[in-house]
Amino acid sequence: MTLLSVRDLTVELQTSRGMAAAVRGVSFDLEKGGTLGIVGESGCGKSITALSLLGLLPDGARATGRVDLDGTDLLSLDEDDLCHVRGNRIAMIFQEPMTSLNPVHRIGRQIAEPLRLHRGLGGAGAREEVLRLLHRVGLPDPARRINAYPHQLSGGQRQRVMIAMALSCAPDILLADEPTTALDVTIQGQILDLINELVEDTGMGLILISHDLGVISESVDNVAVMYGGAIVEQGTTDRLFADLVHPYSQGLFAAVPRPGAVRGARLQTIAGTVPELADLPPACTFADRCAKASPVCWRETPAMTAFGPGHAAACHHHERRGDA
Ligand SMILES: Nc1ncnc2c1ncn2[C@@H]1O[C@H](COP(=O)(O)OP(=O)(O)OP(=O)(O)O)[C@@H](O)[C@H]1O
Ligand SMILES: [Mg+2]
Repeated sequence: MTLLSVRDLTVELQTSRGMAAAVRGVSFDLEKGGTLGIVGESGCGKSITALSLLGLLPDGARATGRVDLDGTDLLSLDEDDLCHVRGNRIAMIFQEPMTSLNPVHRIGRQIAEPLRLHRGLGGAGAREEVLRLLHRVGLPDPARRINAYPHQLSGGQRQRVMIAMALSCAPDILLADEPTTALDVTIQGQILDLINELVEDTGMGLILISHDLGVISESVDNVAVMYGGAIVEQGTTDRLFADLVHPYSQGLFAAVPRPGAVRGARLQTIAGTVPELADLPPACTFADRCAKASPVCWRETPAMTAFGPGHAAACHHHERRGDA
């Protein structure tokens, strides 16, 4: 059953050079309990896509399209209704927990806040639930740490606290935006394992945002590759990684270090740099960096075209592969 359905989501932001689209016609579905990874280079619109699901866009932003959660269009909700969605239905965890935790409040109090707000828990009941959550996310010695301030915890422990807060209202969807990039590799693995385990245990859906293909390939069943604000390829994780179709996805994959690669060999990178929003090509946003680009790529936005069961890509050259 489809829980979240995003259709033709376009987000324009105020930039120094006027309004420019940071998200361009993004569509995807998330099944109840499903897992989706959004992957792409810095600046491709991953966070803006995520923030628009929660009505947390920067001032002056304009979002169009539809974001349906169980049949309610989130883009049409007012702030009060969005408040109910945040935390309760969709909970978000961010890259750097220090920016989301309040430095002057003890962590126990911060986790208790959504419990009070959304579940009406207070006093001993709230404390008990906070301890249960801290225990569940693997924070060592919760009874002592419940009184700690964020700066008294390590980065990994702070991320566990964020996850505990996210879990507190049993959300239908966990939205994790680069949840591990600020952590060292061992801790990264532990936090991802925790997220995967919680998703499996609770049956909540997961949208995991990362620029790391390795993280994505191990954690989710479906993948969307974004470039220049658009999804350029999407599919089930198995099918997509078995046969990357879009030149951008191929470039992204070639840029990943792999075990067994010749030591000292240069990693392939995608030629050129990500243009500013206002300078993105008008049709296929990847045209100016793509070795296969031809005039049609500048003229017509390529449509998402099925490439096989559970796998589609938006590339004019892919469409033409069959009859070339
Ligand atoms: N508040 C803002 N005002 C204007 N432009 C913004 C704002 N926030 C983001 N942008 C621009 O929107 C585009 C998409 O940004 P977004 O943060 O979604 O990228 P991202 O894919 O999450 O990148 P990263 O991997 O670095 O987190 C970028 O070009 C960025 O510069
Ligand atoms: Mg981001």
